[in-house]
Amino acid sequence: MQTLHIAVIPGDGVGQEVIPEGLRVLRRAGEVTDSFRIETREYPWSCEYYLATGRMMPDDGLRQLEDADAIYLGAVGFPGVPDHVSLWGLLLPIRKGFDQYVNLRPVELLDGIPGPLRDRGPGDVDILCIRENTEGEYSGLGGRSGAGTPNEIAIQTSLFTRRGVERIARYALEQARSRRKQLASATKSNALQYTAVMWDEVVADVARDYPDVTVTPYHVDALAARFVTAPDTLDVVVGSNLFGDILTDLGGALQGSLGLPASANLNPERTHPSMFEPVHGSAPRRAGQGVANPMATVWAGKLMLDHLGETEAAGLVMDALRSVGRSGPRTRDLGGTATTIDVGTAIADAVGAQAPA
Ligand code: NAI
Ligand code: MG
Repeated sequence: MQTLHIAVIPGDGVGQEVIPEGLRVLRRAGEVTDSFRIETREYPWSCEYYLATGRMMPDDGLRQLEDADAIYLGAVGFPGVPDHVSLWGLLLPIRKGFDQYVNLRPVELLDGIPGPLRDRGPGDVDILCIRENTEGEYSGLGGRSGAGTPNEIAIQTSLFTRRGVERIARYALEQARSRRKQLASATKSNALQYTAVMWDEVVADVARDYPDVTVTPYHVDALAARFVTAPDTLDVVVGSNLFGDILTDLGGALQGSLGLPASANLNPERTHPSMFEPVHGSAPRRAGQGVANPMATVWAGKLMLDHLGETEAAGLVMDALRSVGRSGPRTRDLGGTATTIDVGTAIADAVGAQAPA
């Protein structure tokens, strides 16, 4: 029986309500499979922490997280603190500092939960989105001058490295190889003649090592349309930081509620901990009412178990999510009246119901 040391950052708003439900389910999966127990260390880093201390996390924050097996994050951001402060003060430093260069988001329709696409059911939407998570358009390079004057200018520079594109392409190709062997690569090489053309060239170079995978570059605008018009033609999708960010929210929307999509920020070489979180934010208007859907956070926990090699437990959690998706209970975003705790408990019970006799 191994002990998983999880650093927990519930963050703001509904993050604080959904994380305990995620942990409830993961703990149950550990008991049922008899293969791990979870030890948590909780960090109060959040907008509230910022308002009290002037920073989102302490200077040595990364050092405090470094020893954890994984990081489980709720959501950060709250009215009163500008979003670029909370993002650049906590999430981005963790993603960059721990070289979590893969952002992975499964986009899958669950049986019983209708998505917004007419006539599309579970078999039609099963996409694994892989977003570059450390460079590209979110390199943070740039500047402003002449603020507030008619001559004001702002420059935001994209930074793409061969190494950065190579490693995300390789990760995506590996994933495609283990799935339906189709990789769609988001580009915009007509307009972005430097960065996107290099992206395409490097993806094509790496793809030579994967002759069994079909790689198709799509301009990102056309790819966005394809998510809606022909999602069944998409298997693994890889994109830069910005393209991936936008496509994955579109993907999340296809799942029927922001209460469902989950995301993993992976450091595949395991030189640093990886981080697992729901895609949604802190939903300030829903916070404190016990109505947030915990399914995205549970799904993120499932991705954590996958990463930590707890494959059997991960499978039980996914089956339990599907079962609750089918039969309820459901929170308000899915048309139900159940509370966050009701749904978390039901998923944990469904995990328990699969206990070997
Ligand atoms: P949001 O994801 O918090 O909310 C968008 C919509 O989805 C709202 O209608 C909300 O009620 C609903 N929703 C979100 N999570 C839900 C859940 N678990 N169950 C049911 N409904 C849910 O995005 P918004 O409103 O744009 O941002 C709110 C704050 O969260 C901002 O400060 C933003 O910066 C932050 N944020 C943080 C993220 C993160 O920590 N990774 C990601 C997205 C936003
Ligand atoms: Mg986003």
